[in-house]
Amino acid sequence: MERTFAIIKPDAVKKGYAGRVLARIEAAGFTVCTLRMIRMSKREAEGFYYVHRERPFFAGLTDFMSSGPCIVLCLEAPDAIKKWRDLMGATDPAKASDGTLRKEFGASIDNNATHGSDAPDTAAFELGYFFRGLELS
Ligand code: CMP
Repeated sequence: MERTFAIIKPDAVKKGYAGRVLARIEAAGFTVCTLRMIRMSKREAEGFYYVHRERPFFAGLTDFMSSGPCIVLCLEAPDAIKKWRDLMGATDPAKASDGTLRKEFGASIDNNATHGSDAPDTAAFELGYFFRGLELS
């Protein structure tokens, strides 16, 4: 079993897609270990996306991620990191395959509905950023 970190981003929550995304997560066979609806501060978003701090989209990304409530989740499944990235589809919804979440619910590369960790070390950092140990037991 593997765990990964996921976000249903502010655009998807605002448009009322959270329930449908959760249904797709369950239908795909993930166990939702824990989840929480939060509103990130700009500072928290900057800390979360620290690896992107030099990228030109960093200011817009952290503004967007702190613009409204989002849902943070821990998902568990065999090969969960890859499985969740496959279900999300490409970062840019315009390039995402049919049947993926970003194709269905994303509007643009900035408003792309969901986030997922890209590797085991990233998943460990991202899960630890939002959840305490007891919430993940
Ligand atoms: P996410 O998986 O949350 O990781 C970083 C986010 O930056 C990404 O999804 C996109 O929403 C956003 N982003 C904006 N522009 C780009 C870009 N050119 N390349 C990658 N990510 C981008």
